[in-house]
Amino acid sequence: MALKSTITGLLLFIVASLTLSACKQMQTPKMAPAADKFASNSVLVFEPDHVDIGTVKEGEKAVGYLRVRNAGEAMANIISVQTSCGCSVATPEQSLLMPGGFTRIKIVVDTFAKQGKARKWVLLTDDAGHRSKAWVTLHVKPNPHLDISTRSIFKGKCAACHFDPARGKLKGMDIYQAVCAMCHGTDREGVSGPSLKYHHDKDRLSHVIADGVGSQHMPGFAISRGGPLTDGQVKTLARWLSLLDK
Ligand code: HEC
Ligand code: HEC
Repeated sequence: MALKSTITGLLLFIVASLTLSACKQMQTPKMAPAADKFASNSVLVFEPDHVDIGTVKEGEKAVGYLRVRNAGEAMANIISVQTSCGCSVATPEQSLLMPGGFTRIKIVVDTFAKQGKARKWVLLTDDAGHRSKAWVTLHVKPNPHLDISTRSIFKGKCAACHFDPARGKLKGMDIYQAVCAMCHGTDREGVSGPSLKYHHDKDRLSHVIADGVGSQHMPGFAISRGGPLTDGQVKTLARWLSLLDK
């Protein structure tokens, strides 16, 4: 009986901590540090640490599996699984791993608003505080049948990271880091979106930021377009961008 209640307690603890970390992840869309920082001390080893899901149509869910092994000599407990974007969800099939034991992490990526190559990381934390990181890549091809009118990166659960962080930001740089950097890069070097260096035309920038380019990949950010930015924020941001790289 005592053993049974200990196990129940342990399971409750695991469920509670997984739920907790899921909430934390929603609130802090931080970029995780580079993988090699963790590799040395963690006993949870991704084998392999990169999986390619292949090609999927935009709007369809992409599903992949990452295999994890406990390379240590003691039990290891996965206490949190984070992903780079809230558009992907990673779930371990099992949290508690015996020494030498394996489990799989299922990763589901919502491909809405994605185009071309996408790359997502998955970060595991075990009960000893060690972390391991792996990558999932996929190629998203255009889907002519996708109904974009009812979906937006500014709505639903996407809003926590793609809409809300713009609120109250007054400086161009702050607005940029809050809602642009995830696609255009922290240094405007370009990631999934193109590089925004050497854009000196303030009016064109204002127009593109406010109204978008007519695709779900770069929606209009003005409030009138369903986006998060006030007219003042759009102007400030366009001005800030246009004055860089001179
Ligand atoms: C927890 C915060 C968070 C949430 C919630 C979130 N995102 Fe993101 N998103 C990010 C971050 C951070 C990046 C940049 C890192 C990356 O690409 O994984 C990003 C990148 C993106 C990109 C560009 C990169 C790519 O994969 O094409 C798209 C498109 C995107 N998100 C769409 C969405 C959609 C659609 C939703 C809702 C289903 C969503 N996001 C929810 C944080 C979030
Ligand atoms: C979800 C990802 C995403 C976010 C967030 C995003 N962009 Fe974009 N942006 C893109 C993509 C992708 C393109 C290219 C669109 C295309 O060609 O269909 C683009 C295009 C642009 C362009 C036109 C670039 C050119 O060379 O013509 C500008 C300017 C721009 N974005 C500015 C911004 C600013 C400023 C923000 C923040 C308010 C922002 N974007 C937020 C993905 C994003």
